[in-house]
Amino acid sequence: MDSLFESLEGGENREERLAELARQVSVCTRCDLALNRTNTVFGTGDPYSPLMLVGEGPGENEDATGLPFVGRAGKLLDDILAAVDLTRQDVYLTNTVKCRAAVEEGGRMKNRPPRAGEIRACNPYLQSQMEAVKPEIILCLGGPAAKTVIDKDFKITKDRGKWYEVNGIKAMATFHPAYVLRQRGDDLQSAKRAVWKDVQAVYTEYQRALEEQR
Ligand code: URA
Repeated sequence: MDSLFESLEGGENREERLAELARQVSVCTRCDLALNRTNTVFGTGDPYSPLMLVGEGPGENEDATGLPFVGRAGKLLDDILAAVDLTRQDVYLTNTVKCRAAVEEGGRMKNRPPRAGEIRACNPYLQSQMEAVKPEIILCLGGPAAKTVIDKDFKITKDRGKWYEVNGIKAMATFHPAYVLRQRGDDLQSAKRAVWKDVQAVYTEYQRALEEQR
């Protein structure tokens, strides 16, 4: 019995390890984003998936519910995943920062990108999630995730759709669904085409990883 208990304590059980991390995140005060949050947003999905998706950070809806990608960008993310026959239950989904970054504008709080110091403060949690889930593939959604996971100098327009290696993990970045939603006309078509192409490449690697597991 001791050895089973030890292996759980030692983090062999991914659910337990993630639950403990989520508990730590829920009381985190490493940066000022803690001051205005309703809920922390830790992550959801399959902790045994070979594929991890990393977004930017919670918005208003995510802050209200404690769940990632529940707003309009989340609906588009579901459509993107569905294009390759995946659901969010097939992947592990998290964000670069776990609390909403917002600024007051005209009497109400508006989402803003997380600052470098906020991303730095939160990074140990993301790194621990990566250690717990041990993904073979990471898809970064947008520039902040790519700069955090892949390279601080990552340029999303130039560098998206390419494979990088991060501590033995294959990593790619694509446009953030919220960015796609902000485009119009030809720009919208070309952003969608780019994301679809990137997600096909990720799916090929995902299938390869699953086959290797069998
Ligand atoms: N945008 C993100 O990057 N993450 C979310 O959870 C929601 C919107």
